Amino acid sequence: MSESAVKVGADAAAASAVDAKGGAAVKGGAVPLIELVNLKKYFVIKGAKQGSRHVHAVDDVSLSIRQGETLGLVGESGCGKTTLGRTALRLYEPTAGRILYRGEDITDAKMLPYRRKMQIIFQDPSASLDPRMTVGEIVGEAIDIHGLAESKAARRERISALLDRVGLNSEQANRYPHEFSGGQQQRIGIARALAVEPEFIVCDEPISALDVSIQSQIVNMLDDMQDQLGLTYLFIAHDISVVRYISDRIGVMYLGKLVELAESGEIHKNPLHPYTRTLFAAAPVPDPEKNRGRTRAVLEGDIPSPINPPPGCRFHTRCPNAEPRCSAAEPEFREYSPGHYAACHLL
Ligand SMILES: Nc1ncnc2c1ncn2[C@@H]1O[C@H](COP(=O)(O)OP(=O)(O)O)[C@@H](O)[C@H]1O
Ligand SMILES: [Mg+2]
Repeated sequence: MSESAVKVGADAAAASAVDAKGGAAVKGGAVPLIELVNLKKYFVIKGAKQGSRHVHAVDDVSLSIRQGETLGLVGESGCGKTTLGRTALRLYEPTAGRILYRGEDITDAKMLPYRRKMQIIFQDPSASLDPRMTVGEIVGEAIDIHGLAESKAARRERISALLDRVGLNSEQANRYPHEFSGGQQQRIGIARALAVEPEFIVCDEPISALDVSIQSQIVNMLDDMQDQLGLTYLFIAHDISVVRYISDRIGVMYLGKLVELAESGEIHKNPLHPYTRTLFAAAPVPDPEKNRGRTRAVLEGDIPSPINPPPGCRFHTRCPNAEPRCSAAEPEFREYSPGHYAACHLL
């Protein structure tokens, strides 16, 4: 996906515009598929002595995802990636901000018609599949909710086509999730997401819980599906090396904030934010030779609590370059070169 900016799926190709400068196809045209505007999601923790407190899980994030692209979202565990993905789908109600889908404000809309368009693949496939339902029932449920099969035969056919598409077979429709391996369970989760013919899928660390040996199979399958079906992905990972090859653009989150956003190649060549740099330094490099000359910036200390985030730049407590102004004022998320945004006082 990131390899060629012009590689787009069938639907996306139809909607793509031509870049006057380069002549290359630009994904999605003028209106992004999904837009998050100043999105916030705070969780209330009740029962605290001083009254209720809030977890600032997603704190004022603005982001657009173009049709047909993969936007990779990375950051340490707990920084708000899952919350952002789920709030974008309104599986969590936003605390503040707006969500637009094809330019329509869906922040307060009835979601049933949009549920079909927007799906999620979960991090832990075994926990996301009902153990009492057969695979056929799991995949068929979404078909039923949205009335997508005219007859029992059409429904059966649709289920076996979906299982086929994810590399399972129709005889397996009568089996239960526990009879499958982790990788196969994730394939079932993907078939369930695909059942409603979505346009946008939040892939929430879909390979993190899987054996390393099968991770690339699942990523390649998601990549092929995107090309064939014109899908748009928000692809969440805690490890930047996972999203590197599949993302068109990469967003980096730290403690509820988006701190950097750029095209995948650009952010790898020229990471601006000190946090992004440390993420790259921590990522494994396949070739040990290349590791030798690299200065390994190591992050000191734990990620602070999102209940009382540090003032100013949230990263200042761990930043190797922090200055007094970093704790005094919040840095603006600014565009430093076309399409390359970062929030840091020192840039
Ligand atoms: N349902 C919830 N209730 C309260 N706090 C939550 C809930 N879900 C997530 N959080 C908190 O919000 C923060 C962000 O979590 P999450 O979005 O799961 O991060 P990530 O996916 O990046 O690991 C964490 O501090 C987490 O403990
Ligand atoms: Mg998560």
